[in-house]
Amino acid sequence: MNIYTFATPYEAAEALAQKIVAVAEKSIVLRNRFNFVLTGGSSPKDLYELLATKYRTAINWQKVYFFFGDERYVPASDADYNGLMAQKTLLSHLDILPGQVFFVNTHLSPEVAAADYFERIKTHFDTPNVVFDMVLLGMGNDAHTASLFPQTTILDTSAATVEAVYVAKLESWRISLTAKLINNAREVAFLVFGSGKAEALRHIMAENGNAHDYPSRLIRRDADWYVDEDVKRST
Ligand code: 6PG
Repeated sequence: MNIYTFATPYEAAEALAQKIVAVAEKSIVLRNRFNFVLTGGSSPKDLYELLATKYRTAINWQKVYFFFGDERYVPASDADYNGLMAQKTLLSHLDILPGQVFFVNTHLSPEVAAADYFERIKTHFDTPNVVFDMVLLGMGNDAHTASLFPQTTILDTSAATVEAVYVAKLESWRISLTAKLINNAREVAFLVFGSGKAEALRHIMAENGNAHDYPSRLIRRDADWYVDEDVKRST
């Protein structure tokens, strides 16, 4: 694990913003586009606002395609919809076309929404062997990432795909990239901060552990972790 520790969450977000700029530039030079998977949750809000302001001119956004690592199965107008958070903090501030953003269509049933989302992704890549340039991830206090929650069925899916998963403890459906699809990306970066996540991070950093209990252990061990001192100090 490549762990980069910063005094504050904001400094971690800024360092990750600079990493994103570098990866975007390299992707666009090599492949004329940057296929970028956003994370949901609250952790990335400073990051997205930095990308939309201080770093807005550092990336050729017309060459960027946006995806979501997971989505809550709620209407797109719902405050919990990750796409809405990303729209408000980042996407609406960029000069981009609607076709550059791949939202999950939660008007469909969960399984159909997952299949529809993955079909659109495969069509964009023009291959079933989807390789994202960068996947951003957060982590919950229970060590879940994307919607790979402890003791859920999606953890056993070895295929690189998108699945609908019922999360009993949330009493809700989620749509999520599988661990394999995340791990196939060229770059994977976590943004995790706050002492509340220290125990989870400790279990992820441990040499041995059960991925069914701590699903972020399913993510490739060479992923980059941008963390603050609060979460790192407590590990
Ligand atoms: C989501 C995210 C999820 C998130 C973690 C951490 O849909 O909620 O994709 O995996 O990254 O739950 O969330 P916070 O950043 O809000 O702590």
